[in-house]
Amino acid sequence: MLNIIIFGAPGSGKGTQSENLIKKYNLAHISTGDVLRAEMKNGTELGKLAEGYISKGQLVPDDVVIEMLANVLDTKTDVSGVVFDGFPRTIAQSEALEKILEKRGEKISVVVNLEVEEPELIDRLIKRGQQSGRSDDNLETIKSRLDVYKSQTSPLKEHYEKSGKLATIKGLGTIDEIFTLISEAVDKVK
Ligand code: AP5
Ligand code: MG
Repeated sequence: MLNIIIFGAPGSGKGTQSENLIKKYNLAHISTGDVLRAEMKNGTELGKLAEGYISKGQLVPDDVVIEMLANVLDTKTDVSGVVFDGFPRTIAQSEALEKILEKRGEKISVVVNLEVEEPELIDRLIKRGQQSGRSDDNLETIKSRLDVYKSQTSPLKEHYEKSGKLATIKGLGTIDEIFTLISEAVDKVK
């Protein structure tokens, strides 16, 4: 099983590179952001709850996201691995993921950490916001997403560094150039 966490700030390219990873390595893709946006679109209770946090650039509470992730993962049977995109985002989520995988007799193979400078992140997200229709792609919410990333999510890097799983990759350049570097990191643990 190849379980890859794709990690990085908002706009770092997690979704873009996940698409490449699932194709090359034949994996399932779980983006908690995509799952939450689908719930919002369908007007479910979870979607209504999530909307309040997402539009402010805040994290949806851990217990809600962890339960959701566990449910989605349960549907991914008969796969050769999973790309976790946008999860975990807190220490509590990372501990929960380890337990969930342990129950399946699995573990995290590698954490691909995409590093991109803040001005480039803002530039990418503003540009995307002109067409995406995402309620969080506006300057005010982008700034709060970046703050939340710094305070609540980036500490996870140290956690994965200690376990020897962190592969830090410069996320600047063409999508193909970056994917070559990601593939090298994944091939080492395959
Ligand atoms: P989520 O959907 O995960 O969004 P995010 O982390 O803010 O990141 P994005 O999806 O905006 O960016 P990305 O890194 O995927 O980059 P992309 O490939 O799209 O989360 C949204 C919200 O949901 C959170 O704020 C939170 O409220 C909630 N949520 C989700 N998960 C949660 C969790 N686990 N716990 C609690 N709450 C949670 O690329 C960005 C743009 O750049 C695109 O336009 C792309 O075309 C472009 N681009 C990509 N690569 C390059 C490149 N190399 N050069 C130039 N442009 C590029
Ligand atoms: Mg994304």
